[in-house]
Amino acid sequence: MLTVAVLISGTGSNLRALLDAAADPGYPARVILIGADREAEGLAHAEAFGIPSFVVPWDAFDSREAWGAELDAQLQVWKPDLVVLSGLMRLLPPALVQAWAPRIINTHPAYLPSFPGAHGVRDALAAGVAETGASVIVVDDGVDSGPILAQEHVPVLPDDTESSLHARIKPVERRLLIDVVRRIAEGDLDLGARPQPH
Ligand code: GRF
Repeated sequence: MLTVAVLISGTGSNLRALLDAAADPGYPARVILIGADREAEGLAHAEAFGIPSFVVPWDAFDSREAWGAELDAQLQVWKPDLVVLSGLMRLLPPALVQAWAPRIINTHPAYLPSFPGAHGVRDALAAGVAETGASVIVVDDGVDSGPILAQEHVPVLPDDTESSLHARIKPVERRLLIDVVRRIAEGDLDLGARPQPH
């Protein structure tokens, strides 16, 4: 059974979808830990599912490195097999990425490498493209620049707003995430070995 920690900043709807999928006894992964960089709405899902959760408040630290070190310390307590960033709106410091790579993945609401960054949906809309998409990637030190594990296109409709487009992308993101986690758990998608925890 693959153990998963999920890190969020927002409503955690993608997290919720993963929790629902993992509630099926036939699903080969379990969410064992949920973390956030703020008192995120999505932490309610941890309570609903009886899963341990923690907050490492971004504002409480002087630097990205100090914040990341505390996040790493929390993750090391539980030692999940995989870390999923699902709407965590912070760039991780390189030391944290190195500690967990390649077993740290991210969902992104655009068809990477197009429209990386915090405003992937807004940027696609502003660019006037006919289609954008959703991607699941391995996290590296760049902004949404790691190896792509899965992705799918989503059409942009003429009257789309940022929220209507994001609402159509999210179900695709969820499906891709659930599928990627399953494939990792079943050994169909080899991310490579994780360095020994320090
Ligand atoms: C997702 O689209 C994620 O890729 C993006 O923020 C959204 C998170 O939504 N960075 P939720 O918190 O899972 O509802």
